[in-house]
Amino acid sequence: MASVQEKLITKITEDKAAAPTNKITIVGVGQVGMACAVSILSKELADGLALVDILEDKLKGEMMDLQHGSVFLKTPTIIADKDYSVTANSRIVIVTGGVRQQEGESRLNLVQRNVNVFKFIIPQVVKYSPNCIIIVVSNPVDILTYVTWKLSGLPQNRIIGSGTNLDSARFRYLISERLGIHPSSCHGYVLGEHGDSSVAVWSGVNVAGVSLQSLNPEMGSDQDSENWKQVHKEVVDSAYEVIKLKGYTNWAIGFSVADLAESIVKNLSRVHPVSTMVKGMYGIENEVFLSLPCVLNSQGLVSVINQKLKDDEVAQLQKSAETLWNIQKDLKDL
Ligand SMILES: NC(=O)c1ccc[n+]([C@@H]2O[C@H](COP(=O)([O-])OP(=O)(O)OC[C@H]3O[C@@H](n4cnc5c(N)ncnc54)[C@H](O)[C@@H]3O)[C@@H](O)[C@H]2O)c1
Ligand SMILES: *[C@@H]1O[C@H](CO)[C@@H](O)[C@H](O)[C@H]1NC(C)=O
Repeated sequence: MASVQEKLITKITEDKAAAPTNKITIVGVGQVGMACAVSILSKELADGLALVDILEDKLKGEMMDLQHGSVFLKTPTIIADKDYSVTANSRIVIVTGGVRQQEGESRLNLVQRNVNVFKFIIPQVVKYSPNCIIIVVSNPVDILTYVTWKLSGLPQNRIIGSGTNLDSARFRYLISERLGIHPSSCHGYVLGEHGDSSVAVWSGVNVAGVSLQSLNPEMGSDQDSENWKQVHKEVVDSAYEVIKLKGYTNWAIGFSVADLAESIVKNLSRVHPVSTMVKGMYGIENEVFLSLPCVLNSQGLVSVINQKLKDDEVAQLQKSAETLWNIQKDLKDL
């Protein structure tokens, strides 16, 4: 007896299982990993999505829940397993696994626990997807991006830390609230360390090419009567505030990571503030990863835009670099 499927369908050619060409893997299906997954699915960036975690029930539950949305999505395969063979031949691997900050805890405090997690994750990722581009999201993100670079042996262009992409998005949102102009038209960069020592580049903040600092030369300084400096302070405090209120941050980081993935998948050559190895730039002498404006396309992180930074901005970058290096130099077995 022919099956319903056989009666329904007349084959013109045999199915050859064509491997997805824009497969994206997410390691860690916690709050951040799932927000990245949902953003990537709704933007239709991937033709295959793979999820990995160590919690098997949670992993299977998240996979099934996403699969049940397939009618509304255009990503034909959604798979998950604790075995990294499900991740094979990924174009992009997004790493969100590990622990997050508790209320009041700094990102840098997470370092040793998450380095140990990465020693497990990164070799597996590279084994199954030797040609992938890795986007590191787990904190402290700049140090873990360095750790990923070391553990993976991949070239610098294929290792990207989400860095201050989120900080810059928060900065532009807060400026937009003050000006009543959409954040996509409020240009500005927060660079350096993702977190407490990030650097707001006030000299570059502009709307339609109009430098706001040319309208208010004190912008960003302590002498500013409008206290724009507060905007950067709010950026730095954002994660602490949201974590205090809801326990974690996830939606904005999910959107911002999907935006990075879009530049890679669609070869857009757009500029994003993300974490890359900055040795030799702005007088930084050690192998540290910090965020600078970087061009992302299908080859990954292909170049850095040289911004003209003021002396105090360069000094702040150098200070971040020193803070990170002082932690990194004590990390063992990378
Ligand atoms: N870069 C940024 O801008 C940014 C923003 C928000 C959060 N984060 C960071 O992202 C990370 C994840 O945050 P979260 O809120 O999703 O945490 P979470 O606790 O909700 O999820 C973390 C997940 O990682 C999994 N995990 C732990 N060890 C693993 C391993 N060896 N292999 C695979 N998976 C493993 C856990 O089982 C859990 O499901 C944290 O380090 C957090 O600080 C970064
Ligand atoms: C990606 O974009 C770059 C720069 O525009 C171009 O040189 C390259 O050919 C493009 N690559 C692909 C695979 O389309």
